[in-house]
Amino acid sequence: MDELTITLLGGVEIRQAGTAVTGFVSNKALALFCYLIVTGREHPRSLLQALLWGDSPQDDAMNSLRNVLSNLRKLAGTHLLITRQTAALNPDAPYRLDVQHFLQAAQGKKLQNGRLSPDDLQALETAVSLYQGEFMAGFSVADAPAFEEWLLAQRERLRLLYLQSLHRLVVHYANTGLLDEAIATNGRLLAAEPWREESHRQQMTLLARAGRWSEAIAQYRRCRDLLAQELGVAPMSETTALYERIKAARDLPRHNLPATSGPLLGRDAELAELAELLRRPDCRLITLTGPGGAGKTKLARALVRQQGEVFLHGARFLPLTAVPDPAFLDTAVAAALGLSLKPQPAPRQQLLDHLHPLEQLLVLDNFDHLLDGSDLLTEILSHAPDVKLLVTSRERLDMQAEWLYPLAGLPVQQETAAADSPAVTLFASVARRVQHDFDLAGQETAVADICQMLDGLPLGIELAAAQTAVYPPAAIAAALRQGLD
Ligand SMILES: Nc1ncnc2c1ncn2[C@@H]1O[C@H](COP(=O)(O)OP(=O)(O)OP(=O)(O)O)[C@@H](O)[C@H]1O
Ligand SMILES: [Mg+2]
Repeated sequence: MDELTITLLGGVEIRQAGTAVTGFVSNKALALFCYLIVTGREHPRSLLQALLWGDSPQDDAMNSLRNVLSNLRKLAGTHLLITRQTAALNPDAPYRLDVQHFLQAAQGKKLQNGRLSPDDLQALETAVSLYQGEFMAGFSVADAPAFEEWLLAQRERLRLLYLQSLHRLVVHYANTGLLDEAIATNGRLLAAEPWREESHRQQMTLLARAGRWSEAIAQYRRCRDLLAQELGVAPMSETTALYERIKAARDLPRHNLPATSGPLLGRDAELAELAELLRRPDCRLITLTGPGGAGKTKLARALVRQQGEVFLHGARFLPLTAVPDPAFLDTAVAAALGLSLKPQPAPRQQLLDHLHPLEQLLVLDNFDHLLDGSDLLTEILSHAPDVKLLVTSRERLDMQAEWLYPLAGLPVQQETAAADSPAVTLFASVARRVQHDFDLAGQETAVADICQMLDGLPLGIELAAAQTAVYPPAAIAAALRQGLD
């Protein structure tokens, strides 16, 4: 038995063994065929008569249905089960209906914490690729109001499911940092629903996040013109506010750090993990903890450079080592953000007012001695809904909102792989600064031993490496070993 392929999303196409099935006696014959296939149920003839010939006298309707059914029997007889009372699709004859696959792929796929599971993601991607256009696009049966009603209801139901699938994909892509995919998918959503102001705003935000500022601004103009021309209304205040926000963000520096300060060694995984935490909507405060000299500040600075490109209003590094006491925290933060404080209101209020409209990452570095001032962090989190905080400190803050990220030393590989260790590379680069002809060759094992004994802690490694001005690595290693014993 030849497989029947019925494609109804984006038009009407019926193929059997690869060739188009033609020869339907009328539009109503085609309509009836599609109805039987899509519903998949058995229908009494009386109901089918009412569906397509509701306006005709009973006898005429019966005759018309009989003619149409005999036409269908000739075209695809094995695929239909026709009796004196009923007609139905034959479920045992092989067929492929795009609508059925679309429904299976699209239904019941939910976001959790703004993301899709890998299976649901794949299913929704399949669903939107199956949706090539509206259900039975361009098809209608003018004098069959009952069928038209069914057709329009199906069309709308499938369209809404398509829009919902697109929307969930956009949210997932945006929350996993796949900006290009999010923008393209949201573009499809807008093509299907050009009036949806929420999607215009989403597109503006995505484009701005991707650094495509002029396109973000053009998107606002397109939305504004469309609403004016078609509906005679102005954009919502929320949309205009976003437009202003994007224009302001475009003119802000991405971060406030100098160009560069020596490479960050061996922290790719940590950087990626922190970026991933920051993408989570429920994670707004991270404490990067670890012993002194573990490299918290170094990593946090790299994160500021990276996230400057991700947050709409960039990222700011706020060095707090010199702040003597929590009492000076508000003014120190304001100064580091470049705010010129006015006499009124209180600095804290001015700071919160400044942060309120921003989507920005603030990195408060070396917070160790300011733990008593953590109420500022709580207030920022509640007054500035789109600001996220990362604090570096040897101790955790003990705040409810806090996500802990403990940092250990740099990895040290042994033996032949030693020279590839980030810890050994750090040692060698410092050693070369104090002794210009320092050559690692032949000394990898001694250096790896040193790094190992220092638990890979960067500060310890730097101090040990500085001694190569006087001692070779083997001697430094021996001294350390003695100290440990
Ligand atoms: N991954 C790294 N690559 C290169 N150098 C590093 C790395 N991590 C740390 N360093 C260097 O090690 C030294 C100590 O690092 P850092 O100041 O970041 O430590 P810290 O954890 O912030 O310490 P503290 O608790 O005292 O603030 C610095 O000179 C830094 O440049
Ligand atoms: Mg530090």
